[in-house]
Amino acid sequence: MLIHSARRMKAFQENIFTELADIKKAKVAQGIELIDLSIGSPDLAPPPSVLQTLAEEAANPNKFGYALKGTEDFHRAITNYYMRNYQVELDCDNEVLTLMGSQDGLVHLPMALCEPEDYVLVPDPGYTAYAAGVSMAGATMYPMPLKKESGYLPSLEDIPLEVCEKAKLMILNYPGNPIPVVASEGFFKAAITFAKRHNIVILHDFAYSELYYDRKPVSFLSVDGAKDVGIEMNSLSKSFNMAGCRIAYAAGNHELLQLLKRLKSNLDYGVFLPIQAAATVALDQPSEFLEKNRVIYRKRRDTLIGGFQQLGWK
Ligand SMILES: Cc1ncc(COP(=O)(O)O)c(C=O)c1O
Repeated sequence: MLIHSARRMKAFQENIFTELADIKKAKVAQGIELIDLSIGSPDLAPPPSVLQTLAEEAANPNKFGYALKGTEDFHRAITNYYMRNYQVELDCDNEVLTLMGSQDGLVHLPMALCEPEDYVLVPDPGYTAYAAGVSMAGATMYPMPLKKESGYLPSLEDIPLEVCEKAKLMILNYPGNPIPVVASEGFFKAAITFAKRHNIVILHDFAYSELYYDRKPVSFLSVDGAKDVGIEMNSLSKSFNMAGCRIAYAAGNHELLQLLKRLKSNLDYGVFLPIQAAATVALDQPSEFLEKNRVIYRKRRDTLIGGFQQLGWK
């Protein structure tokens, strides 16, 4: 039998990280020693209380049913975390949505929002999921170059008017991957004004919110007007070393979250309840765990940069 894939499958390749994992496996089988700088899957442990909660909850046979959506406890922990860290008030019933990793939300939001003729403004260079989501939605990607002279922030004033008119969504990511800079409150203010002027939704990917060295990153949602135009996605993958648990959340504009929720209710039946319980404990952690994590990353960063400098690399 001849199997013809749908046309939309031609718009994207296998994810680069899956491809790199296969290459790595082949090299390791040849006895080659590698340092893996591909996918950012933390090699550090989650907090002990998270491990304990997950083990206890997973031993309870009553926790194996469909979750369908985020639990009240998890949503409450998210709203408390935002209030504690960013002084942002969120309604835990209407302004928070549980995701199966932020990848889930990043790829599905363009599908819930965009028509083929719509443009999506994405950072260039940017994280791979943005392009995948735009391709799956059949929309058009408009790269916003991140240049040194503009502090690696997109120059909103350089986006042509005809693109602004066709743009439905803008994706931002600070602290960024692969360019690890943070955005100021002023930049987010300008982005919100721009979004309101051109009727563009903002999706801020905040996956690295807790991985900073000097300046604590600004939450997009802490800026006036953010909830009118957009949502922020955050994840437990990097902050709490829980990447394999696939748990994250989106917060902010109620209407956008409802759209995403409707799409997701047809795709998945929620995150395994023991993982939601473990994630609740993680968000309720005292901040020492996150501080210790940052100290380890700082040491590694300094070792890497020191090594580069010894090689004569700036
Ligand atoms: C910028 C950025 N956003 C999102 C993700 C995906 O994270 P999650 O595990 O929450 O799907 C990654 C993963 O590396 C990332 O680098």
